[in-house]
Amino acid sequence: MSYKIGIIGGTGRQGRGLAYRWAQAGHEILIGSRKLEGALAAVEELEERLGGEGKLSGMTNLEAVEACDIAVLTVPFEHMRSTLEELKDALQGKLLINVCVPLVPPKVTRVQMPPEGSGALMAQAILGDGARIVDAYQNVSFEHLLSGEEIDTDVLVAGYDKAARETVIQLSADIGVKAWDAGVIQNTMVVEGLTSILIGLNIQYKVPSSGIRITGVHE
Ligand SMILES: NC(=O)c1ccc[n+]([C@@H]2O[C@H](COP(=O)([O-])OP(=O)(O)OC[C@H]3O[C@@H](n4cnc5c(N)ncnc54)[C@H](OP(=O)(O)O)[C@@H]3O)[C@@H](O)[C@H]2O)c1
Repeated sequence: MSYKIGIIGGTGRQGRGLAYRWAQAGHEILIGSRKLEGALAAVEELEERLGGEGKLSGMTNLEAVEACDIAVLTVPFEHMRSTLEELKDALQGKLLINVCVPLVPPKVTRVQMPPEGSGALMAQAILGDGARIVDAYQNVSFEHLLSGEEIDTDVLVAGYDKAARETVIQLSADIGVKAWDAGVIQNTMVVEGLTSILIGLNIQYKVPSSGIRITGVHE
Protein backbone atom coordinates (compact mmCIF):
# COMPACT_ATOMS: atom_id res chain seq x y z
CA MET A 1 0.00 0.00 0.00
CA SER A 2 1.27 3.46 -0.88
CA TYR A 3 0.86 6.38 1.54
CA LYS A 4 1.19 10.15 1.48
CA ILE A 5 3.76 10.72 4.22
CA GLY A 6 4.07 14.25 5.66
CA ILE A 7 7.37 14.89 7.43
CA ILE A 8 7.41 17.69 10.02
CA GLY A 9 10.95 19.10 10.00
CA GLY A 10 11.51 17.11 6.82
CA THR A 11 14.36 19.43 5.81
CA GLY A 12 16.58 18.05 8.59
CA ARG A 13 18.95 15.11 8.67
CA GLN A 14 16.60 12.37 9.89
CA GLY A 15 13.60 13.72 7.98
CA ARG A 16 15.49 13.73 4.68
CA GLY A 17 16.90 10.29 5.40
CA LEU A 18 13.46 8.76 5.93
CA ALA A 19 12.04 10.73 2.98
CA TYR A 20 14.76 9.32 0.73
CA ARG A 21 14.02 5.72 1.72
CA TRP A 22 10.24 6.00 1.57
CA ALA A 23 10.33 7.85 -1.77
CA GLN A 24 12.47 5.02 -3.15
CA ALA A 25 9.87 2.56 -1.86
CA GLY A 26 7.10 4.33 -3.80
CA HIS A 27 5.44 6.43 -1.10
CA GLU A 28 4.54 10.05 -1.83
CA ILE A 29 6.54 12.41 0.38
CA LEU A 30 5.46 15.83 1.63
CA ILE A 31 8.48 17.63 3.06
CA GLY A 32 7.35 20.04 5.78
CA SER A 33 9.28 23.02 7.08
CA ARG A 34 8.70 26.25 8.97
CA LYS A 35 9.64 27.97 5.71
CA LEU A 36 8.46 27.03 2.24
CA GLU A 37 11.85 27.88 0.66
CA GLY A 38 13.57 25.41 3.00
CA ALA A 39 11.16 22.65 2.06
CA LEU A 40 11.59 23.31 -1.66
CA ALA A 41 15.39 23.23 -1.33
CA ALA A 42 15.23 19.89 0.51
CA VAL A 43 12.97 18.46 -2.20
CA GLU A 44 15.44 19.58 -4.88
CA GLU A 45 18.33 17.93 -3.02
CA LEU A 46 16.37 14.71 -2.55
CA GLU A 47 15.23 14.61 -6.18
CA GLU A 48 18.86 14.88 -7.25
CA ARG A 49 19.83 12.09 -4.84
CA LEU A 50 16.98 9.91 -6.14
CA GLY A 51 17.97 10.53 -9.77
CA GLY A 52 14.47 11.53 -10.83
CA GLU A 53 12.79 8.62 -9.03
CA GLY A 54 10.12 9.31 -6.41
CA LYS A 55 7.26 11.71 -5.83
CA LEU A 56 8.08 14.57 -3.45
CA SER A 57 6.77 18.06 -2.75
CA GLY A 58 7.72 20.82 -0.33
CA MET A 59 5.36 22.86 1.86
CA THR A 60 4.88 24.23 5.37
CA ASN A 61 4.63 21.78 8.27
CA LEU A 62 0.92 22.61 8.64
CA GLU A 63 0.20 21.95 4.97
CA ALA A 64 2.14 18.68 5.13
CA VAL A 65 0.14 17.48 8.14
CA GLU A 66 -3.17 18.53 6.62
CA ALA A 67 -2.49 16.76 3.31
CA CYS A 68 -0.86 13.55 4.57
CA ASP A 69 -2.15 10.08 5.47
CA ILE A 70 0.67 9.59 7.97
CA ALA A 71 2.64 12.33 9.75
CA VAL A 72 6.24 11.92 10.93
CA LEU A 73 7.88 14.16 13.54
CA THR A 74 11.61 14.82 13.09
CA VAL A 75 12.51 18.02 14.91
CA PRO A 76 15.10 18.48 17.70
CA PHE A 77 13.56 17.46 21.03
CA GLU A 78 13.79 20.98 22.47
CA HIS A 79 11.37 22.16 19.74
CA MET A 80 9.02 19.18 19.93
CA ARG A 81 6.55 20.78 22.36
CA SER A 82 6.17 24.10 20.49
CA THR A 83 5.90 22.29 17.13
CA LEU A 84 3.16 19.94 18.39
CA GLU A 85 1.26 22.79 20.05
CA GLU A 86 1.20 24.63 16.72
CA LEU A 87 0.02 21.55 14.79
CA LYS A 88 -2.32 20.15 17.46
CA ASP A 89 -5.59 20.68 15.58
CA ALA A 90 -4.27 19.37 12.26
CA LEU A 91 -2.87 16.23 13.92
CA GLN A 92 -6.21 15.10 15.37
CA GLY A 93 -7.14 11.72 13.90
CA LYS A 94 -3.74 11.28 12.22
CA LEU A 95 -1.20 8.53 12.74
CA LEU A 96 1.89 10.38 13.99
CA ILE A 97 5.24 8.56 13.91
CA ASN A 98 7.45 10.18 16.52
CA VAL A 99 11.16 9.84 15.73
CA CYS A 100 12.36 12.43 18.28
CA VAL A 101 14.57 11.37 21.17
CA PRO A 102 14.63 13.36 24.42
CA LEU A 103 18.40 13.86 24.37
CA VAL A 104 19.60 16.55 26.77
CA PRO A 105 23.07 17.79 25.77
CA PRO A 106 25.79 17.56 26.84
CA LYS A 107 25.03 14.23 28.59
CA VAL A 108 23.50 12.50 25.57
CA THR A 109 24.70 9.06 26.70
CA ARG A 110 22.46 9.34 29.79
CA VAL A 111 18.76 8.48 29.48
CA GLN A 112 16.86 11.64 30.47
CA MET A 113 13.12 11.33 29.91
CA PRO A 114 10.76 14.31 30.26
CA PRO A 115 8.35 14.36 33.25
CA GLU A 116 5.62 12.68 31.15
CA GLY A 117 7.87 9.59 30.80
CA SER A 118 8.98 9.82 27.14
CA GLY A 119 8.75 12.04 24.09
CA ALA A 120 5.76 10.06 22.82
CA LEU A 121 3.95 10.38 26.18
CA MET A 122 4.69 14.11 26.16
CA ALA A 123 3.24 14.27 22.64
CA GLN A 124 0.12 12.47 23.87
CA ALA A 125 -0.23 14.92 26.76
CA ILE A 126 -0.06 17.82 24.27
CA LEU A 127 -2.23 16.34 21.50
CA GLY A 128 -4.72 14.38 23.60
CA ASP A 129 -6.20 11.03 22.66
CA GLY A 130 -7.17 12.23 19.16
CA ALA A 131 -3.73 11.59 17.68
CA ARG A 132 -2.45 8.04 17.11
CA ILE A 133 1.16 8.32 18.29
CA VAL A 134 3.69 5.59 17.54
CA ASP A 135 7.45 5.69 18.22
CA ALA A 136 9.91 4.31 15.65
CA TYR A 137 13.35 4.82 14.06
CA GLN A 138 14.97 6.37 17.18
CA ASN A 139 17.88 3.95 16.72
CA VAL A 140 18.41 4.47 12.96
CA SER A 141 20.98 7.11 12.08
CA PHE A 142 20.48 9.61 9.26
CA GLU A 143 23.89 8.66 7.84
CA HIS A 144 22.64 5.13 7.43
CA LEU A 145 19.38 6.26 5.84
CA LEU A 146 21.06 8.62 3.37
CA SER A 147 23.86 6.17 2.54
CA GLY A 148 21.48 3.99 0.59
CA GLU A 149 23.19 0.94 2.11
CA GLU A 150 21.39 -1.87 3.93
CA ILE A 151 20.14 -0.67 7.34
CA ASP A 152 21.88 -2.97 9.80
CA THR A 153 19.56 -2.79 12.80
CA ASP A 154 16.13 -3.87 13.93
CA VAL A 155 13.59 -1.25 15.00
CA LEU A 156 11.18 -1.25 17.92
CA VAL A 157 7.71 0.16 17.31
CA ALA A 158 5.63 1.15 20.35
CA GLY A 159 2.51 3.23 20.81
CA TYR A 160 -1.13 3.79 20.08
CA ASP A 161 -2.75 0.50 19.01
CA LYS A 162 -1.85 -2.71 17.21
CA ALA A 163 -3.19 -1.56 13.85
CA ALA A 164 -1.12 1.65 13.99
CA ARG A 165 1.99 -0.32 14.99
CA GLU A 166 1.42 -2.79 12.15
CA THR A 167 1.23 0.07 9.65
CA VAL A 168 4.63 1.32 10.87
CA ILE A 169 6.06 -2.21 10.80
CA GLN A 170 4.98 -2.44 7.13
CA LEU A 171 6.48 0.99 6.37
CA SER A 172 9.74 -0.34 7.85
CA ALA A 173 9.61 -3.50 5.74
CA ASP A 174 9.16 -1.23 2.70
CA ILE A 175 12.65 0.20 3.35
CA GLY A 176 14.20 -3.16 4.25
CA VAL A 177 14.10 -2.78 8.03
CA LYS A 178 12.88 -5.50 10.39
CA ALA A 179 10.58 -3.82 12.92
CA TRP A 180 9.03 -5.40 16.00
CA ASP A 181 5.79 -4.67 17.82
CA ALA A 182 7.11 -3.37 21.15
CA GLY A 183 3.68 -2.73 22.62
CA VAL A 184 1.85 0.19 24.17
CA ILE A 185 2.84 3.86 24.43
CA GLN A 186 4.17 3.42 28.01
CA ASN A 187 6.94 1.28 26.47
CA THR A 188 8.24 4.23 24.43
CA MET A 189 10.50 5.19 27.34
CA VAL A 190 12.53 2.06 26.56
CA VAL A 191 12.43 2.63 22.79
CA GLU A 192 13.64 6.23 23.18
CA GLY A 193 16.05 5.36 26.00
CA LEU A 194 17.89 2.88 23.79
CA THR A 195 19.32 5.75 21.75
CA SER A 196 21.46 7.06 24.61
CA ILE A 197 22.83 3.56 25.19
CA LEU A 198 23.67 3.14 21.50
CA ILE A 199 25.34 6.58 21.35
CA GLY A 200 27.43 5.49 24.35
CA LEU A 201 28.42 2.28 22.54
CA ASN A 202 29.33 4.26 19.41
CA ILE A 203 31.70 6.38 21.51
CA GLN A 204 33.20 3.47 23.48
CA TYR A 205 33.77 1.25 20.46
CA LYS A 206 34.51 4.07 17.97
CA VAL A 207 31.82 3.01 15.49
CA PRO A 208 29.43 5.26 13.53
CA SER A 209 26.14 3.53 14.30
CA SER A 210 25.60 0.52 16.55
CA GLY A 211 22.21 -1.19 16.34
CA ILE A 212 20.05 -3.90 17.91
CA ARG A 213 18.73 -7.33 16.94
CA ILE A 214 15.83 -9.23 18.50
CA THR A 215 16.78 -12.91 18.72
CA GLY A 216 14.94 -16.11 19.54
CA VAL A 217 11.75 -15.29 17.62
CA HIS A 218 10.95 -17.55 14.67
CA GLU A 219 8.21 -16.15 12.47
N1 LIG B 1 20.02 12.58 13.20
C1 LIG B 1 19.85 11.30 13.49
O1 LIG B 1 20.64 10.42 13.06
C2 LIG B 1 18.67 10.86 14.35
C3 LIG B 1 18.47 9.49 14.62
C4 LIG B 1 17.37 9.09 15.37
C5 LIG B 1 16.49 10.06 15.86
N2 LIG B 1 16.72 11.38 15.61
C6 LIG B 1 15.77 12.38 16.14
O2 LIG B 1 15.15 13.03 15.07
C7 LIG B 1 14.93 14.39 15.41
C8 LIG B 1 15.53 15.27 14.32
O3 LIG B 1 16.93 15.09 14.30
P1 LIG B 1 17.80 15.75 13.13
O4 LIG B 1 19.19 15.31 13.35
O5 LIG B 1 17.14 15.49 11.83
O6 LIG B 1 17.63 17.30 13.50
P2 LIG B 1 18.02 18.60 12.66
O7 LIG B 1 18.51 18.22 11.32
O8 LIG B 1 18.91 19.43 13.54
O9 LIG B 1 16.61 19.38 12.58
C9 LIG B 1 15.50 18.87 11.91
C10 LIG B 1 14.59 20.00 11.51
O10 LIG B 1 13.96 20.58 12.65
C11 LIG B 1 13.48 21.86 12.28
N3 LIG B 1 13.66 22.82 13.36
C12 LIG B 1 14.81 23.37 13.80
N4 LIG B 1 14.57 24.27 14.78
C13 LIG B 1 13.22 24.28 14.95
C14 LIG B 1 12.36 25.03 15.79
N5 LIG B 1 12.81 25.97 16.63
N6 LIG B 1 11.03 24.78 15.70
C15 LIG B 1 10.55 23.87 14.82
N7 LIG B 1 11.33 23.15 13.97
C16 LIG B 1 12.64 23.36 14.05
C17 LIG B 1 14.29 22.32 11.05
O11 LIG B 1 13.40 22.42 9.95
P3 LIG B 1 12.98 23.84 9.30
O12 LIG B 1 14.06 24.83 9.62
O13 LIG B 1 12.92 23.51 7.85
O14 LIG B 1 11.67 24.17 9.88
C18 LIG B 1 15.28 21.19 10.87
O15 LIG B 1 15.60 20.94 9.52
C19 LIG B 1 15.56 14.64 16.78
O16 LIG B 1 14.59 14.67 17.77
C20 LIG B 1 16.50 13.46 16.95
O17 LIG B 1 16.64 13.06 18.30
C21 LIG B 1 17.78 11.80 14.85
